Amino acid sequence: MTPCQESKHKDSIFVIHDETANLKVLLTILTEHGYAVHHANEGELRLQLQFVKHTLPDLVLVDVRMPGMDGYQVCASLKNDPLTRAIPVIFISSIDHSINQAKALLSGAVDYIAEPFDAEEVLWRVETHISLHRIRENLKSAVRKRTAQPVTTNEELEGALQEIRVLTQVTGRKHAEEKIREQEAELRQVLDLAPQHIVVLGPEGSHLYSNQAALNYYGLTLEQWRSYDARTLFHPDDCERMTSGGQIKVLGESPHDTEARLLRKDGKYRWFLIRRNPLRDGQGNITHWYIAATDVEDRKRADEERERLLANERAAFAETVAAQQRFRDLVNSVEGIVWEADVPSFQFLFISKQAERVLGYPVERWLSEPTFWKDHVHHDDREWALQFCQTATTEKRDHEFEYRVIAADGSVVWLRNLVTVVVEGDRVTRVRGLMVDLTNRKQAEEALRQAQLDLAHVNRVTTMGELTASLAHEVNQPIAATVTDANTCLRWLARDRPDVEEAREAASRVVKDATRAAEIISRIRLLFKKGAPQRELFEVNEAIREMIVLLRSEATRYSISVRTDLAPDLPRVMGDRVQLQQVLMNLMINGIDAMKEVNGTRELAIKSQRAENEQLLVSVSDTGVGLPQQAAQIFNAFFTTKAHGTGMGLRISRSIVESYGGRLWAGDNSPRGASFCFTLPAKVEEHE
Ligand SMILES: Nc1ncnc2c1ncn2[C@@H]1O[C@H](COP(=O)(O)OP(=O)(O)OP(=O)(O)O)[C@@H](O)[C@H]1O
Ligand SMILES: [Mg+2]
Repeated sequence: MTPCQESKHKDSIFVIHDETANLKVLLTILTEHGYAVHHANEGELRLQLQFVKHTLPDLVLVDVRMPGMDGYQVCASLKNDPLTRAIPVIFISSIDHSINQAKALLSGAVDYIAEPFDAEEVLWRVETHISLHRIRENLKSAVRKRTAQPVTTNEELEGALQEIRVLTQVTGRKHAEEKIREQEAELRQVLDLAPQHIVVLGPEGSHLYSNQAALNYYGLTLEQWRSYDARTLFHPDDCERMTSGGQIKVLGESPHDTEARLLRKDGKYRWFLIRRNPLRDGQGNITHWYIAATDVEDRKRADEERERLLANERAAFAETVAAQQRFRDLVNSVEGIVWEADVPSFQFLFISKQAERVLGYPVERWLSEPTFWKDHVHHDDREWALQFCQTATTEKRDHEFEYRVIAADGSVVWLRNLVTVVVEGDRVTRVRGLMVDLTNRKQAEEALRQAQLDLAHVNRVTTMGELTASLAHEVNQPIAATVTDANTCLRWLARDRPDVEEAREAASRVVKDATRAAEIISRIRLLFKKGAPQRELFEVNEAIREMIVLLRSEATRYSISVRTDLAPDLPRVMGDRVQLQQVLMNLMINGIDAMKEVNGTRELAIKSQRAENEQLLVSVSDTGVGLPQQAAQIFNAFFTTKAHGTGMGLRISRSIVESYGGRLWAGDNSPRGASFCFTLPAKVEEHE
């Protein structure tokens, strides 16, 4: 209830003001509260003053500035006129400057209300000033009436004025308390709507007020809450920190935040962010604590979850780093050189430590020099190796090859490179692979090859040694013929009439036989000779014939006939002729050996022919004892059924044939004996 509602008077108010929305409300309120309101918003100053003089209102409300008029002038004019001087003037304006307020008071106004205004307050001020005006008028007339009497008037007057001041204060305080009560009620409503817990404590922590959200959470009424032991509100682990003597602890003097778990009515604890704020009076003493608690359980859960995910992620990252390190260690411990290179430059992007160990160049050089690989490939391999790699990479084919590299100490290192071509989308992005050091294997292979050559030579020499008698016989024959022919020649010449013609013929035979002997010796020498294998084109049939010549005596010695069936116009073969003759010799001697003891026909048949796939087929067949029971083992080293055999003949022969790219195998001969066949590729010659 406001003071205005109490008084049902007909006090009049003159308002000189532009009609704003705010003012309209005010006019309505003034009218509703029983004031007779006159309103003017235009016209000259003189006209306005006349209105006031005419109506003599109990109060004038005037705007500071209006179109064509100044509120201060209005006020000053009213105050200058004895008729209107006493009428209280209140300024009402949207200009809230203290300078304007001062000007207003100087011009004689009693009050200054700044817009936007509180209608209640305006009513209260209006009524106060009207009351003061009335009291003042009453006092004045009382004073006037008593002017003839000796008075203590000043004291009385002072007393009256004091009364007025008290009245003003009381009215103001009453109004203010009313306002506070209303605001408190309003505030409570707002607080009850808030989702946070809002609590008001006394300066020492006594429970004064809790909003509905908090009460609902605990399942308590306000009364219960006020007398509740705060320790039961908190989680046991937070209790000591948050409470003191059964009340919520208020720490220090400044606002502070903390987090704690509060017990919900269903028995579950939830995390809250608790913010404590002190409220101080004019002397700075704390009068209340305001506490707001916000449920952060979900955020906390989310934080924990995020922390957990982060921890997982960190662990995964650490694991990845460790795995990478393990992988790097593994790569560096691999016997081969692991590498990755860019295309088409073939510059290395990665190379494992093994590269340093194998070739002696530091890893940094491999990576920093754009043409490192090309520069260090052996010059004999450089062109083809590069070409081979480029072609395979362009065709997106994984590939492997063996080549030589010059090491830092100048030695030659054999490498086997296994290359994977990395294709992303449709594009070759890089190549990677493994280089394995083959130097030891290559050296071993070379040593083996040499050992085989040596062995083959020993085999040849041994076999030839066994044939010494036959070979001597074979050489002897033309030499004996030479001697005979030379004697004949001499005889023809020694006649009384030397027959020159006969002598010439005999001399020609000498030359022929001597040449034949020389040829045989040269062949024998070749077979004895030790040297690196040659690559030459030769006629297989010719090699066969020569070998027959050398072995003819041996065959004859054992009554063995030698038959040949050699296909004409055979393509020539590329390779070492002496090696091939060694094969023929081994097979023919084995055939002769097999027939030495047999009765019946002893025939060694040698046949040459074309076979499929550009191959030549040569067979050596005998009518001997046939293959032994362990026929499957005859090609094994050291397998022999002979008293003085080494068991190496067939083994060496097979490796020679295979080194040509051919095959050697054995079978039975019909009706008896054994047959050995071998093929040789003849393609090489046809391409030349
Ligand atoms: N034509 C053949 N007929 C029957 N058996 C044969 C024939 N050729 C080889 N063999 C059997 O194969 C074995 C191995 O022959 P190989 O030529 O390797 O050794 P070797 O002749 O016994 O001894 P080497 O040739 O070193 O003097 C022979 O001992 C023999 O048993
Ligand atoms: Mg043999």
